[in-house]
Parts: sequence; structure tokens; C-alpha cells
Amino acid sequence: MTIEKVFIVGSGLMGGGIAQVCAQAGMSAILNDENKAATEKALNTIAWSVGKLIEKGKLKEDKATVLGRIQIASGFERASDADLVVEAVFENLDVKKQIFKNLDAVCKPDTILASNTSAIPITELGVITGHPERVVGIHFFNPVPMMRAVEVVKGICTSEAVMNSAVEFVRKIGKSPIRVESDIPGFILNRINLVSYVEAIRLLERGIGTVSDIDTGVRMAFGRPMGPFETGDMVGLDVSYGGLTAIYAESHDPGFLPPQLLKRKVKAGQLGRKTGKGWYQYDNDGNKVEG
Ligand SMILES: NC(=O)c1ccc[n+]([C@@H]2O[C@H](COP(=O)([O-])OP(=O)(O)OC[C@H]3O[C@@H](n4cnc5c(N)ncnc54)[C@H](O)[C@@H]3O)[C@@H](O)[C@H]2O)c1
Repeated sequence: MTIEKVFIVGSGLMGGGIAQVCAQAGMSAILNDENKAATEKALNTIAWSVGKLIEKGKLKEDKATVLGRIQIASGFERASDADLVVEAVFENLDVKKQIFKNLDAVCKPDTILASNTSAIPITELGVITGHPERVVGIHFFNPVPMMRAVEVVKGICTSEAVMNSAVEFVRKIGKSPIRVESDIPGFILNRINLVSYVEAIRLLERGIGTVSDIDTGVRMAFGRPMGPFETGDMVGLDVSYGGLTAIYAESHDPGFLPPQLLKRKVKAGQLGRKTGKGWYQYDNDGNKVEG
């Protein structure tokens, strides 16, 4: 199936970015959120980001053309003729289940229903609907306009045709699809990333290295653009903590047991860039405060 019209539920950090990359690829994108302020904020962020990409010569079209492909919808009615719906609301199973149930009732039978979840099994969302074969994971990375990998995740019931259409969609938006053949929590890339994050926190807890030295070392030795603590602050300590908790709950693999220090910082509201303090401290413009 060729995807031309995409409906996005949830216009936060991820949903806004997903709408942007769809519009940049010439698709029509409809943004939905239960909170009107979130869609307005998403539109402003998209306008800023598209402007930056044009300035850097990375986008050939003019801003008005790209932004003209994005619309706002308050309910789910306009999902009825979408080719693809991407759900990107809070990481909460009950909230997501209700959304899939509602979408199943309004969408045409061949609309692909995707979730951007980082850890919830796709199968659990699929079985809520009358057509679990059309439910798939399309897992983007943050920030969506910059990160090129996108995991395409198969639930037990997801059909091969739906997997192939999702892979084709990811290519159409200029990203690299990574097929994940089973919906284990954390999929492939977060499992790899989180193990090194947990190890970095444990080394810090034991006083073996400092936040700044560990980040510098990882950047310099492995050619990564950011160290584990810098990445942790960008993603949100609560998001990583939630991911680790979900993987540990299902696997009981001690490698994914959330470290005490991470748990304490989440409880203290030190969630990273979004709260101005995480592993580092940030000023009101989001710049790292040294020392
Ligand atoms: N933040 C990341 O780095 C990241 C990376 C990959 C995947 N994810 C996943 O993407 C999803 C969204 O994460 P986010 O960081 O964009 O969250 P966010 O908090 O920035 O945005 C979530 C949005 O969903 C909206 N929402 C909540 N319930 C809704 C409903 N019933 N109907 C419509 N809108 C509703 C909220 O108002 C909010 O604007 C989560 O499943 C998360 O695990 C996040």
C-alpha cells in the first residue's frame, strides 16, 4: 500500500517530529492531541525546525509548502480515510489500548495502525482491535527529524504485507528501516543502548568515573556524538527509567534492573533537559551550565 495520508495521535516531542518528516516527504499529515496547547506548540516547533533545515540547505522546498501539508484535528473522525495512523501518546498501556479501540472503530479496514511505543508489546495493542494483523510498531528516535534509524516491529499477529508497507513508508520519509521480528520490550536498539547506560550509571555510583569523564571518554573513544549521560538527559531520565522497568519486568534480566541512583533522580524530578536538571544542569535556553 502506498502511504499518502498519515494521522498522528499525540502531538508531543515525538508526534510533532513524525508529522514534520511526513510533510517533508510530501505526505499529508494530520496532528491530533487531547490537549490543544500541545498541537500549537508542535506547529511552532515544526515551523522552527523546517526553517533551520531550509537555512542549512537540507530542504529544497519552501517553508509554506511543507507546513501547508500539516493540519490539526481535535477528534479521530479525520483518521477515517488515513492510510496510516501513528500513535505517539504517553507510554501508558491503558491509554494506548483505548486509543487503538477507538481508531479501530473509525478507520477504513486497510488503514495501518502503528504505535511509536518504546516498550509496550505491539501484540497487546493489536488484540484490542478487530484486525490485529494491521497493527505494527513504527519506533522513531528522538529528535525525529535528525535520527535516521526507525524500527519496524512485528507483533505476533502483524501481517507480512503490513510489515512491508511500514518498511516502505520509513524509506519514503528518508529513514533507514530496522526490522524487529518480535515485539520484545525495548526492541533491538534500546536494549543495546540501555545496557551501556545502566553500566555508565553503575560506574558512577561506585565512584569509578565522573559523569563528564565517562561522557567524554565514550565520545572520544567510540565516535558517538553524545555520551550516555548527555543522551540520558536529552531522552529524559523518566523515559529511560520507564523503559528499563518494562524490560526488567518481562525479562528479569539483571542487566536491565534500573540503578538506584536513576530511580532516586526520577523521584526527585531531575528528569534531564526538560526540567533543567538531570545528570547535568541547564539554563533557561537549554544550554549546559558548566561546573
Ligand atoms: N521521548 C523519546 O525520546 C521517545 C523516543 C521514542 C519513542 N517514544 C515514545 O513515543 C511516545 C510519545 O512520547 P513523547 O516523548 O512524544 O511524549 P510527550 O509527553 O512529549 O507527548 C505525548 C502527547 O500525547 C498526548 N496525549 C495523551 N493522551 C492522549 C489521548 N488520549 N489522545 C490524544 N493525545 C493524547 C499528550 O497531550 C501529549 O501532548 C511514547 O510511547 C514514548 O515511549 C519516546
